[in-house]
Amino acid sequence: MATAAAGVAASLTALTGRDFLSSADFSAEETAALLELASQLKSGERRIDLGNRVLGLIFTKASTRTRVSFSVAMTRLGGQTVDLNPSVTQLGRGEPLQDTARVLSRYCDALAVRTYAQQEIVDYAHWSTVPVINALTDLEHPCQALADFLTMREVHGDLAGQTLAYIGDGNNVAHSLMLCGALLGVNVRIGCPEGFEPLSGILDQARSLAQQGASIEVLSDPVEAVRGAQAVYTDVWASMGQEEEQHEREQAFAAFCLDQELMGHAAADAIVLHCLPAHRGEEITAEVMEGASSRIFDQAENRLHAQQALLAAVLGGL
Ligand code: CP
Ligand code: NVA
Repeated sequence: MATAAAGVAASLTALTGRDFLSSADFSAEETAALLELASQLKSGERRIDLGNRVLGLIFTKASTRTRVSFSVAMTRLGGQTVDLNPSVTQLGRGEPLQDTARVLSRYCDALAVRTYAQQEIVDYAHWSTVPVINALTDLEHPCQALADFLTMREVHGDLAGQTLAYIGDGNNVAHSLMLCGALLGVNVRIGCPEGFEPLSGILDQARSLAQQGASIEVLSDPVEAVRGAQAVYTDVWASMGQEEEQHEREQAFAAFCLDQELMGHAAADAIVLHCLPAHRGEEITAEVMEGASSRIFDQAENRLHAQQALLAAVLGGL
């Protein structure tokens, strides 16, 4: 036991000063160690005071959970956040990213960035001298995946060999679930309509990262994707930035609504997950969302615990 605890501690220490731009940026051991720390922080077994550190939030897209959970996580760690929404900074008036990132690094101890292009956070990480965290891009949502697997671990225990089925668009959330799931030894099945598959490069990357024989599959039949799974997950059909495709997507995804009938093909003790915000009656029925299997609001809470662990680790508070 002492050896396992030492392994977790060493993995967490290795995260000091690191960026988190992709679920694939951390190793399998580091990802598992973060979930363990998050669980200890949640239960109160562990308390961490970072001593007045500051996290800058640069959010180009709307956010409730990510923004508030980062802010509360910093407060609980004895620090604070500064809201650097581009509409109220000189970024919105065209100040170059390379200047903004270097200046903000002089004031803040870490930056959490939510934007469209993944390249933009890669550029932030290049120019910043402090850790940069991906708070959602069009490509990935790695902080979300940490909370998702923390939730699955709380219900089903050891994640290795469990199966998570994701039904819907092969989007940012799906990409991070594939990569993070692969690292944790979880079988990940993506059930999506033709033309809305995850990127093949992410699929290849997830398969190459897969631990303990985990399989990463993309299926066009939602029933086959869900069959026997321990967790069934869905997300909106049109992500932020795709609003004009809403109508076309409603037609393409009509057979991919997570309803009771589809849940009937999952394991008897399967849980329902959704990153939120949700559109009841589109990707998920109100019945499933509010049903006994739903862990959606525990999952939303876990954003706080997972990000508190992440911040403590990258800010070197351990
Ligand atoms: N799930 C999630 O990232 O929610 P917000 O967009 O509200 O941050
Ligand atoms: N895929 C969604 C997730 C929102 C948290 C989006 O990018 O809008």
